[in-house]
Amino acid sequence: MAVESSSSTWSQRFEQGLHPAIERFNASIGFDITLLQQDLDGSIAHARMLASTGVITAEEAEQLVGGLEQVRAEAAAGAFNPGLEDEDVHFAVERRLIALLGPLGKKLHTGRSRNDQVGTDLRLWLRGQIDAIDAALVRFERALLAQAEAHAEVMIPGYTHLQRAQPICLAHHLLAYVEMAERDRARLRDLRQRVNICPLGAAALAGTPVPIDRRHTAAALGFDAVYANSLDAVSDRDFAVEFSAAASLVMVHLSRLSEEVILWASEEFRFVTLTDRCATGSSLMPQKKNPDVPELVRGKCGRVFGHLQGLLVMIKGLPLAYNKDFQEDKEALFDTVATTLACLEAMAILLEEGLQFQPERLEQAVGSDFSNATDVADYLVAKGVPFREAYQLVGGLVKTCLQEGLLLRELPLERWQQLHPSFGDDIYAAIAPRQVVAARRSEGGTGFEQVRQQLERAQARLRA
Ligand code: ARG
Repeated sequence: MAVESSSSTWSQRFEQGLHPAIERFNASIGFDITLLQQDLDGSIAHARMLASTGVITAEEAEQLVGGLEQVRAEAAAGAFNPGLEDEDVHFAVERRLIALLGPLGKKLHTGRSRNDQVGTDLRLWLRGQIDAIDAALVRFERALLAQAEAHAEVMIPGYTHLQRAQPICLAHHLLAYVEMAERDRARLRDLRQRVNICPLGAAALAGTPVPIDRRHTAAALGFDAVYANSLDAVSDRDFAVEFSAAASLVMVHLSRLSEEVILWASEEFRFVTLTDRCATGSSLMPQKKNPDVPELVRGKCGRVFGHLQGLLVMIKGLPLAYNKDFQEDKEALFDTVATTLACLEAMAILLEEGLQFQPERLEQAVGSDFSNATDVADYLVAKGVPFREAYQLVGGLVKTCLQEGLLLRELPLERWQQLHPSFGDDIYAAIAPRQVVAARRSEGGTGFEQVRQQLERAQARLRA
């Protein structure tokens, strides 16, 4: 590729080239080459628009498009390798075009600035990535759903304060994450509307005297609308912040599930075993099987949350309109997208083939604690005892059981009747874990029937 000296990028105002260290410092080509396809698409739309308004001829536009497509082909063949002297992807493409087409190539940038160009590229790229994250969320949800379907009858201790609270249906627990992922999808859908607005035509900041047609380029690129204010168009990065916040919540959800899997896989819980597909060993301790996948997902939250903070701080003090600070938005977004996609995929695989729930161990866990104590109180309530009175009585009973080393189900009927005359021998059925779960029939509760309905709704959404 033709390499000109850096000073030739600029107008004749410049006489000297950049200091080599500053050239390195200033360049974004090392990372914004990620936007190459979008940059080409944007330039193609721009060239055709210029012909539509008569700024260039139709023939010139088609030659420009041909040149841009050739750059695309060269890139696909590994033959487009811009260097630092190109500064960024926009200059790299323009220079190559000029090398290919001669003076005609110099017409492409008419009525446009890199400021509206980079904003266009970034939005086009992010729009595609949002769709990819949506697909990854669907895969993750399907993996949760499959585990939920397989465990619609299995129970697991439910916790508050990480203390055993009440037994719940395992599918109910897993479906809670499906709900979170659905909200993540809704958030992405919503913010995608604000990503999909076209800044092209704002030029450097003020618009352009060149007769352009912003609606033409916006429509050709699949944007839903154009920015109403040219200053806002080149200096808005709200969409990047919104996206980072939505991605951060995806990571929060993945991380909470990760934490649970890590706990569940521990010797203390043993609710799941990790298969060899997603676990690793220790270099020293031969017995170890480590949950690296959920640990890494949990750990990668740091960088995603950090990028959100980085973007907010980068933007907050900037006067209108474009400032070079904005160049810093790219690596933040690229890494946020790559990390979120990688974590969603890893967690889906973990659910698909990386862990096995241990139904026997879970069965034993839900039957060996006092997590049915609320149901004793509810039993008395059904017999007309006011809840707070019942609650006090059962609290005392739990205390004596703990002292005597007995579970509630191990108490003989006389003891129940000493506590309150309305206990009958149906108390044993009422406090059996399966009954305790089944009884929670309130809407959205863990009762098996309610969970069935949740499963059906999720199936209808995800299998459509
Ligand atoms: N590489 C720049 C960026 O990422 C492109 C826009 C540069 N515009 C300018 N006026 N220097 O933001």
